[in-house]
Amino acid sequence: MMLIVHHLHSFILETLITPSELSSAIQFLTETGQRSTDHGQEFVILSGILGISALIDSIHNAKPPGATEGAVIGPFFSEDTRDVGSNGDSLGSIASEGKGFYMYVHGRVTDTQGNPIAGAIIDTWETDGTGLYDNQYEEAERDGPECRGRLRSDEEGKYAFRGVVPVSYPIYVDGTAGKLLERLGRHPFRPAHLHLQVEAPGYETLITQLYFKDDVYVTSDVIFDVKSSLVSDLKPITDPSLSAKRGFVDPNKVHMELERDLVLATPGEGEAARKKFQEELTRLATKGIGA
Ligand SMILES: [Fe+2]
Repeated sequence: MMLIVHHLHSFILETLITPSELSSAIQFLTETGQRSTDHGQEFVILSGILGISALIDSIHNAKPPGATEGAVIGPFFSEDTRDVGSNGDSLGSIASEGKGFYMYVHGRVTDTQGNPIAGAIIDTWETDGTGLYDNQYEEAERDGPECRGRLRSDEEGKYAFRGVVPVSYPIYVDGTAGKLLERLGRHPFRPAHLHLQVEAPGYETLITQLYFKDDVYVTSDVIFDVKSSLVSDLKPITDPSLSAKRGFVDPNKVHMELERDLVLATPGEGEAARKKFQEELTRLATKGIGA
């Protein structure tokens, strides 16, 4: 409490906000608190666009060198998913035909020493080609899990699945957070991303998102959740025989390939990394955050 009051008073002393500005601020927060819709809680969206959620996630999910970095889970994870096999050469698909531009995702699940992790459970979810998650559709328009799936890595730690190239989408902007973005001249978009959750016994669960290099929003994510280590290059594959082997319904269509290894930390490695990171942050905070 002492620290909150200290920082709030510093803010007031630095800005000399007026009584009418205080009223506006109270009004803004009141409206934010009163707004809770099917889209969720407005304070959650506000926390996102101010970078608070991403910052807290970064601090408490810091990873050791070599491990795949994390990202926030976001509001669209669902247990209602499709099973897409348990094999590194799996031809399973998380998306139905016609849901977007073909994408093939593959790689290995390993530990930080590069040893394969077999039987890791990978949950993945993404938008379809229109920028919507299946659970954003009305019940009547929704035909089962779509653009999401669960699979397992094989004996060599390999995983593979077909999906679609996800697209960038705006967060909900019909509340106070949207008004604030508009006043700040900020766009409301998240860059396109593939969500992943990877679980394996003896390792920390990895929750992350993979982004794409050529995305126009990759350097200005509205919720500040992109880490450069999570940005990949999508490679166009024009060889119909490879497309056929990978199980695409129309092998004459070009598909994009995303190759990405997923590296898990043990609880011990994770704990050491978080301790080190938090000590560094404390050191910076006592020197002033700009130091
Ligand atoms: Fe998302």
